[in-house]
Amino acid sequence: PPLDEILNLHDFEAVAKIVLPDKAWAYYSSASDDEITIRENRAAYQRVWFRPRILRDVTAVDWSTTILGQKSSLPVYISATALGKLGHPDGELNLTRAAGKHGVIQMIPTLASCSFDEIVDAAQPNQSLFLQLYVSRDRSITKRYVQHAEKRGVKGLFITVDAPQLGRREKDMRTKFVGDDAEAKVQENMSGVKKDEGVARAISSFIDPSLSWKDIQWFRSITKMPIILKGVSTPEDAILALEAGVQGIVLSNHGGRQLDTSRSGLENLIDIAAGLKTRGPWPNPDFSVFVDGGVRRASDVLKALALGASAVGIGRGFLYAFCSYGEAGVEKAFKILGDEFEMNMRLLGARNLKELVPEMVDASALQAH
Ligand code: FNR
Repeated sequence: PPLDEILNLHDFEAVAKIVLPDKAWAYYSSASDDEITIRENRAAYQRVWFRPRILRDVTAVDWSTTILGQKSSLPVYISATALGKLGHPDGELNLTRAAGKHGVIQMIPTLASCSFDEIVDAAQPNQSLFLQLYVSRDRSITKRYVQHAEKRGVKGLFITVDAPQLGRREKDMRTKFVGDDAEAKVQENMSGVKKDEGVARAISSFIDPSLSWKDIQWFRSITKMPIILKGVSTPEDAILALEAGVQGIVLSNHGGRQLDTSRSGLENLIDIAAGLKTRGPWPNPDFSVFVDGGVRRASDVLKALALGASAVGIGRGFLYAFCSYGEAGVEKAFKILGDEFEMNMRLLGARNLKELVPEMVDASALQAH
């Protein structure tokens, strides 16, 4: 269908399913084991209800924000999804270019199909970028990569902590890995590639399962970038992260691709907020709490923000947009979200993101879990 018939982010998924080669669809859409967590990521948002306020003069509404001190036109960032060229010849550059035009922040994946420098070179001079990091067994590689990213102006380091080993994504495993250009690029820096276990496993063997809290101190010594731990699920770990002196966490289950039957980031937000409240202010201006997983509507984002999230990450929504329509698809996704923010904030009675308070949602169905 032509792009102007796309009405919401779900539509991009439906188009991607049709246009993508089987292998790309399997890699992108798959989640681990019985795919229960990925389903819950969506379902959790449907258990939170709005409590809209009326008669507040909502002529002007503003949904812009700052994320880790960087301006963002949306309270949403593009979360890292690996191997963009499986789905479109320009890969991650579709995201970079669209994000630059619209003031949205992109998190560059360690396993991007395009090289890190290609992506940074495609960005506007003042465009903010974050980096997602998989930590290599060879720390000298990781150190060089992190320091290079800092030198090139990256504004936040998101260390993925929920993937000491990649989850079993059976849909992906059924389509065997065959090297092509996109993957060949990623493999350049890696050894021990196994070719018979699906795309995800084939490219992930360099990831260090020995990563531990001790390493966080080391990261703080090698970079001044804000450090965010991506993939936190419990108040216990949220408190350890705060105490470790990092600048934030992402409540994430990796889009349902890691530990199946782990809870959604949105559901965990309530417990984690309660835990963090025992150790300091909430929300804490010096400790960002992001949420990702299953976010496809501005209304989803508004629910997470009302419960105290600093901003929200979207992976597949933008990935499917560029697989289907390239850069123009990503621009359209931003436009759709902007329109949804405007309307939903008016209907909710919140003129800006500060006015989104916990009283604007009924999350009792989550707390009952
Ligand atoms: C991911 N995600 C991910 N996360 C990460 O830290 N490093 C990575 O390389 C990848 N790669 C990746 C590939 C694909 C195809 C997907 C779908 C996801 C997880 C991603 O950053 C984010 O946590 C989820 O995508 C959020 O869920 P939604 O928005 O996809 O539902």
